[in-house]
Amino acid sequence: MMNLKFAFAGSLVAFSGWVTTAQADKLTLYCSPDPEWCELVVQTFEAETGIDVDMTRKSSGETFAQIKAESSNPKGDVWFGGTGDPHLQAAAEGLTEPYESPMRDQLHPWAISQAESADNKTIGIYSGALGYGYNTELLAANGLPEPSCWKDLLKPEYKGHIQMANPNSSGTAYTTLATIVQLFGEEEGFEFMKGLHANINQYTKSGSAPIKAAARGETTIGIVFMHDAVAQAVSGFPVKVVAPCEGTGYEIGSMSIIAGARNMDEAKKFYDWALTAEAQALALQASSYQVPSNVGAPTSDKSPDLSSIKLIDYDFVKYGSSDERKRLLQKWDEEVSTLPQ
Ligand code: F6P
Repeated sequence: MMNLKFAFAGSLVAFSGWVTTAQADKLTLYCSPDPEWCELVVQTFEAETGIDVDMTRKSSGETFAQIKAESSNPKGDVWFGGTGDPHLQAAAEGLTEPYESPMRDQLHPWAISQAESADNKTIGIYSGALGYGYNTELLAANGLPEPSCWKDLLKPEYKGHIQMANPNSSGTAYTTLATIVQLFGEEEGFEFMKGLHANINQYTKSGSAPIKAAARGETTIGIVFMHDAVAQAVSGFPVKVVAPCEGTGYEIGSMSIIAGARNMDEAKKFYDWALTAEAQALALQASSYQVPSNVGAPTSDKSPDLSSIKLIDYDFVKYGSSDERKRLLQKWDEEVSTLPQ
């Protein structure tokens, strides 16, 4: 006969084992800003909460594709950062979870309006304007004129001198495509993208890669968010930052909890923490110069001043919608990327 006392003790061990597993505080984080910032966020959050974070850094479009591919068996808990458009698309496709953080009253209105346009399935954590940067030494060495407008980039003398990311993988490059279409209209906008294609030397996977390449003299011009160009200039590289004369688009870098997150309590804890002024101050420590969404978070005087840049009234609802993002990317794939260079 089974020793009842022993059996009870055994089940207690099994039970406490189960409790330990359920309470093993962990979080799977998909992170889309610069790797240095992602790593600092992870280290600080782990140190402050004891929650173990498993982080993967991927670009915005790539992360969206991964969350979609995993949707029947979600592996990630929180998607931190990256351009807002694919976060809005994820919300519309039911890939992310509604959550109203108690931190909301500390945020700028633009961060809240991002949440409101997505049934609270996402929220703004930073913003930044699109533009480009160039290596002043390479430009001079090649005897090239200083560009100051989007349309300058179509000049034949820049052939082979411009780099941008692929809009399928990169939120920066999708923002570029959507900005050009909003600035010039769809027909003229696609003509612009075709003309630009003729001058592009490489489409990178990550949005900030082109300006890192420009900083190191591997390309002359990189189309990026202006804050990414500022980061290179501040590091001492000969990079000049341009706010294009016609006006430009911008991002509301966002954060979302993944629907069906396995570690929902930890996900909400991270989300609330990431909206604090202290957590957002980590961006500057990691040389990321976006404008933070918490009104109390520090901004650097080196960050591009969004109020002095000619910004378009970027239609986030339209360009973050599933149909429009898919349609524009497919059109770019078929009509632009296939053209000879
Ligand atoms: O490097 C930072 C950053 O420019 C963010 O501001 C932006 O949200 C993100 O990178 C976009 O990265 P990607 O273009 O690779 O998706």
